Amino acid sequence: MSYQRRYALVRPLPRSFSAALQQTPVPINVDLAHAQHERYTEVLRGLVGQLIVVPVDEHYPDCCFIEDTAILVNSVAVIARIGADSRRGESSAVYSVLHKLQQIEPSLRLHRLTEPATLDGGDVLQMGGKIFVGLSKRTNQDAVLQLEALFPGRVVALPVAAGLHLKSVLSALDDHTLLVEDAPPARAMAEPILAALPDAEAIYLPDAVAANVVRVGGTVLIQDGFPESETILLRAAAQRQLEVAKLDMSELIKADGALTCCSLLLE
Ligand code: GLY
Repeated sequence: MSYQRRYALVRPLPRSFSAALQQTPVPINVDLAHAQHERYTEVLRGLVGQLIVVPVDEHYPDCCFIEDTAILVNSVAVIARIGADSRRGESSAVYSVLHKLQQIEPSLRLHRLTEPATLDGGDVLQMGGKIFVGLSKRTNQDAVLQLEALFPGRVVALPVAAGLHLKSVLSALDDHTLLVEDAPPARAMAEPILAALPDAEAIYLPDAVAANVVRVGGTVLIQDGFPESETILLRAAAQRQLEVAKLDMSELIKADGALTCCSLLLE
């Protein structure tokens, strides 16, 4: 994978973000969350061919977490059926935008997951040509079956033993490097991924949220504010001659949002 991205879709953070779903309820500074999300958006704008902004919808406090609405595999977009009832409608606006994009990108194909499948894009990791799907509170086996039909031989399902989503504790720095929280449940989640990708190595980080990075071309976006993990990430990035952009997303983390959650990237 080259990680060059022709398009990135983002969705602004709504004023209703204070009502976003949280595993651990803590007050959110919505103004600061806005500023953090805007900086994320501007950094991404500088790295991709075209940034597409999906209109905000105040009815969906979590709508800035656009990753959960779809998965993009080469020129195929699979529209998710989000696992949380309160979020399920978030996918419609993303479908509309991708449908319009087909006018200038006719090779783009759209599929929809159908009931009883439920899937959040945060449970899907693409790495080394494989599509790893975390079975979680949000993503079920029916979704795995539907993805297997679309991408034969590429889907690997595994249980999510820690965090909200699969990518709450791990992500790909590149096709050969898996970043993983250094904790037993996350290490157990990484095992089937490393078994499926014999050329891949794991790098373990003390902070779960720091193990979620966004790779765009020769740049990697990492979380600011986790110094021990940052030291390890900076070393890994330097070894791979990658630029690093640090982003403070403290207020989005309170709603279980990580860096990958805030964009959909299309090659
Ligand atoms: N707040 C993100 C989620 O629960 O889906």
